[in-house]
Amino acid sequence: LDNGVARTPPMGFNNWNATHCDASFNESMIKGVADAFVSLGLKDAGYTYVNIDDCWAEPSRDASGNLVPNRTRFPNGIKAVADYVHAKGLKFGIYTSAGTKTCNAANGFPGGLNHEQQDAKLFASWGVDYLKYDNCNNQGVDAQKRYKAMRDALAATGRPIVYSLCEWGQTTPKVWTWGEPVGNSWRTTGDISDKWSSMIDKLHINDDLAQYAGPGHWNDPDMLEVGNGGMTATEYRTHFSMWAMMAAPLLIGSDIRNASATTQSILKNTDIIALDQDTLGKQATIVSSGGGTTVYTKQLTNGDRAVALLNENSSSKTISTTASAIGLGGSSSYRLKDLWSKATSTTSGSISASVPAHGTVVFRVTRG
Ligand code: DGJ
Repeated sequence: LDNGVARTPPMGFNNWNATHCDASFNESMIKGVADAFVSLGLKDAGYTYVNIDDCWAEPSRDASGNLVPNRTRFPNGIKAVADYVHAKGLKFGIYTSAGTKTCNAANGFPGGLNHEQQDAKLFASWGVDYLKYDNCNNQGVDAQKRYKAMRDALAATGRPIVYSLCEWGQTTPKVWTWGEPVGNSWRTTGDISDKWSSMIDKLHINDDLAQYAGPGHWNDPDMLEVGNGGMTATEYRTHFSMWAMMAAPLLIGSDIRNASATTQSILKNTDIIALDQDTLGKQATIVSSGGGTTVYTKQLTNGDRAVALLNENSSSKTISTTASAIGLGGSSSYRLKDLWSKATSTTSGSISASVPAHGTVVFRVTRG
């Protein structure tokens, strides 16, 4: 969507993967996350959006039809939280569904269908900078119609708001084929869970979708699980590496107020983040694959290429490609930087590494 925002994939936080609708999702958590963005250096690393997900609202609208913040979780309302986040130099995001109710089955909080203008206006008045618009309880109304109605309502507020379509990519025509003029990103998958198999499954759904991504409009394989504890550090490095290669939104989904040193070192790898945030806006494509290994390459704006060597096997593998195979032929020498170990080397063209089980080696490759 050409609305001036998300020219590179949005970076930030969303509470869903960490809390779902637990009571721990509340004002004090969200303020603490904003504090941690600053104190842990995540803001400096590029993380900007502090976003809240489902279950922030009361089950009923007020007498004027406005959404009401949950009185227990957000006793001072949403605007107070948005103001707090803004005061830290960060941006604030909210959630609702393109349906009559949100996805939370037990409570069914009110959704935005047929309330698009009123809700968009309310969000803008609270200082919302990002809207995640879910797909539950959509009453069978055409997806493009529902998502365009909220796009137009957000535009009418005059406030620049990142518009994240949470349509999951499960209806035909697929959201990525119509998403570019409608949203800043669209989900390509069902919900991720904090498991290697789930993460890999979400990744591969995006393998063939590179043509649909670009500045202002991104494929979204769902939010990060890094730090939630269900994968090893090696697996989380693969998760973070591959989301960056895929130019995916980087929304932290763990409670970073308690982030371990390992979690921080993954989320703050600025060499990997630079791949995600490269202004050319190209999503990686597959160079070769086989035997549980895949080589991906991503074109970068300064003429470099990133290459990711992914090993899905449960034992280490040597994975190899060449500079010309990743689209960088024509030079007699290349410099390689391993973006995790930070080791540098030179090569006349062969690119190869021993990759641990479930690991990914990522190189930035420069001619000359
Ligand atoms: C479904 C979405 O895909 C999730 O990311 C989350 O927003 C839940 N709904 C909330 O109910």
